[in-house]
Amino acid sequence: MMQKPDDTRPRSPAAGPVSAPGGWPVVGHAPALLTRRLEFLSSLAAVGEVVRIRLGPVPAYVVTHPALVRRLLVPGDQHYDRGLLMEKSSTWFGDSLLTSYGESHRRQRRALRSAFTGEHLAAHVRRVRDETQKVVGSWTPGRAFALDEHMNDLALTSVARSLFSTGLTTEKLASIRHHMPVLFRGVLARTAMPNGWDRLPTPGNLRFRTSMRAMDALVNDVITARRAEHPDPEAPGDVLTSLLAVRDDNGAALSVRAVRDQVMTLLVAGSETTGAVLTWALYEIFRHPPIEDAVRRELDEVLGNRDLTLERLSSLTYLEKVISETVRRYPVPFIMRRTLRPVRLGEVDLPAHAEIVFSPYILHHDRRWFPQPRQFDPDRWSPDRSDPPAKDAYIPFGAGVHVCIGRRMALAAIATSLAVICSTQRLEPAADRPIREVATGTVHPDRMPMIPRPVSPTGVGRATR
Ligand code: HEM
Repeated sequence: MMQKPDDTRPRSPAAGPVSAPGGWPVVGHAPALLTRRLEFLSSLAAVGEVVRIRLGPVPAYVVTHPALVRRLLVPGDQHYDRGLLMEKSSTWFGDSLLTSYGESHRRQRRALRSAFTGEHLAAHVRRVRDETQKVVGSWTPGRAFALDEHMNDLALTSVARSLFSTGLTTEKLASIRHHMPVLFRGVLARTAMPNGWDRLPTPGNLRFRTSMRAMDALVNDVITARRAEHPDPEAPGDVLTSLLAVRDDNGAALSVRAVRDQVMTLLVAGSETTGAVLTWALYEIFRHPPIEDAVRRELDEVLGNRDLTLERLSSLTYLEKVISETVRRYPVPFIMRRTLRPVRLGEVDLPAHAEIVFSPYILHHDRRWFPQPRQFDPDRWSPDRSDPPAKDAYIPFGAGVHVCIGRRMALAAIATSLAVICSTQRLEPAADRPIREVATGTVHPDRMPMIPRPVSPTGVGRATR
């Protein structure tokens, strides 16, 4: 019988956190986190609900129980800031929705909210459909290609088009596709470097700086050009339109720097996350013929020859279960917070300025909440299941005030791309060796070469009614 995360357990007096085994002198648990991150993090649920680890000399507390993670997230963020990782990232991405907390975060969230709903979402679906058709059109039947690279690129292109629908020339888009992956990986690597190392003239640092300068120039260019335009009130807005329309209490617009910080953050937060989920969803669909058949059958029944729209996506209920299961099985590996003041979490007293780690991956792979957690089973999400999954332990997009602002955009984009691809293609693994899960900012495959085999079309995306 599956358990439910229970936060009404009797509390005993405060005790210290348990320490994770296997820490080394000086470096602590950093080697385990660097070399076998998922295995190490997953092992901590059996150690305790709040487990003390050491990131070199810095202690951090890993929260493994869903009820405590909810308490960390849901009441709001008056007790916590975003922690070490986001503090370091803000050196490069500035003050944005992803790095801020408290009043500044509330203001930014209010300003950005409308850019992720309504007509913006419908326009995003149309853009993603068109971009996915271009990607599929670039595949040669029978010739292997790197699915993970194509899906990351598709996700990045789609987010970039939704940020600045007009003003994105082919040249600028090519530049974004070249430089953003360097920044995405570079920022994460630099958060783990000792202070000052990123200023040394190593080839990696020079490449990173070149890409940062190129992206800064490009984004500043687009912002300046857009500000000089007279906006067409009939044109479908993009995220940049919303950002430029923001006014503070004194009626002043955001500075170019403030808009740049949000744009860079959204490109980072929205691209490889979406790309990784798309890659894994396709991998799982084509590994399980009954799932593939069910997806194609539904596409045929629901869409037939009709065009793919935001409204019609909501009728693809089996595809929705496939996506729910993909973000359960392959979620973000870890997120950080830091206490602003002493806090009691469960039975553990944490001091002020304590670094906290929680992991959707740990929660989603804990068999107390999700039986047979490594098994890919979309039917766990069927409403008529007698043993429904523990919703409280399910946080693929976080929870509370910082819940992912791009969640609906990501889910709609993933469903759109899957519908377009699965309606005409079957993908076969091009290599025999097993695929390894690698945890960086996302959980992604070490590589995923696939061979496309066209199948008779279900009709999706061919008609334009
Ligand atoms: C499948 C794709 C995605 C996944 C799995 C994902 C996951 C997450 C998670 C777990 C958080 C919570 C972080 C925290 O609590 O600190 C988050 C926040 C955020 N995400 Fe996403 N995300 C996805 C797509 C997107 C997209 C498409 C965008 C925008 C283009 C986006 C922008 C953001 C932003 C700005 C935040 C910070 C929100 C805040 O603090 O108010 N994400 N995301």
